[in-house]
Amino acid sequence: MPGFYRAAGILVCDDVPLDRIAATEGTPLYVYSAATIEARYRAVDEAFAAHPHAMHYALKANSTLAVARLLRGLGSNVDANSGGEIDVALRAGYIPPQIVFTGVGKTQSELAQAVDLGVKTINAESEGELERIDALARNRQTRARVALRVNPDIDARSHPHISTGLKTNKFGIAITDVRQIARRAALRGGLEIVGLHSHVGSQITDLEPLRRAAESLVGLARELRDDGIVIDHLDLGGGLGIS
Ligand SMILES: Cc1ncc(COP(=O)(O)O)c(C=O)c1O
Repeated sequence: MPGFYRAAGILVCDDVPLDRIAATEGTPLYVYSAATIEARYRAVDEAFAAHPHAMHYALKANSTLAVARLLRGLGSNVDANSGGEIDVALRAGYIPPQIVFTGVGKTQSELAQAVDLGVKTINAESEGELERIDALARNRQTRARVALRVNPDIDARSHPHISTGLKTNKFGIAITDVRQIARRAALRGGLEIVGLHSHVGSQITDLEPLRRAAESLVGLARELRDDGIVIDHLDLGGGLGIS
């Protein structure tokens, strides 16, 4: 049986008694259920089966190598939030086209690392960040693939401290400014705009905010297409909550 349960008074994970793991590994230790992670991964993956899609596991949730490797084996890609998480992804066997680099606090050296590796996309949080990525890429005579993180001003209706998609939150480019900024970014020689990204919060237990965010991005993608900017993907988050 997958997950954690008690058998004859002993706590068990994926059929392995925890006291046996404690005896061989020592305590304290962390134990995760691979079977449960796999079941959850497959449930979400299958829900999108009718659409071309890629799943990106947010390493910030748990960057343990064993977990990262397990998910890679299931077909997952990753969302890395720091240079350290990019390193973890590489150590776990992910290749740069499977890595999306996100985050509000990217340093110059982390951006350089992502440009040098040629990650799938750098999700840019602001026009200033686009400028910095452009300069780094042009210095290297390359083009960096970027997605614009859009702040769609949508309430994820989870806990206010983990909400990221309202205009009062620090994350992303205000949806009303995206078209202008994308037009200017498209003229920069070091950038290739390949995606639009939104992440409205974590621990989301109501699908409606995610649906509305997706709709907003589709509308924006159409406007950008009218401007000659053709993107190849929408990057939608955040994660569904645990009840
Ligand atoms: C860009 C991005 N990706 C992923 C996450 C992780 O979100 P979740 O735990 O909802 O999957 C966050 C959380 O703030 C985020 O901002």
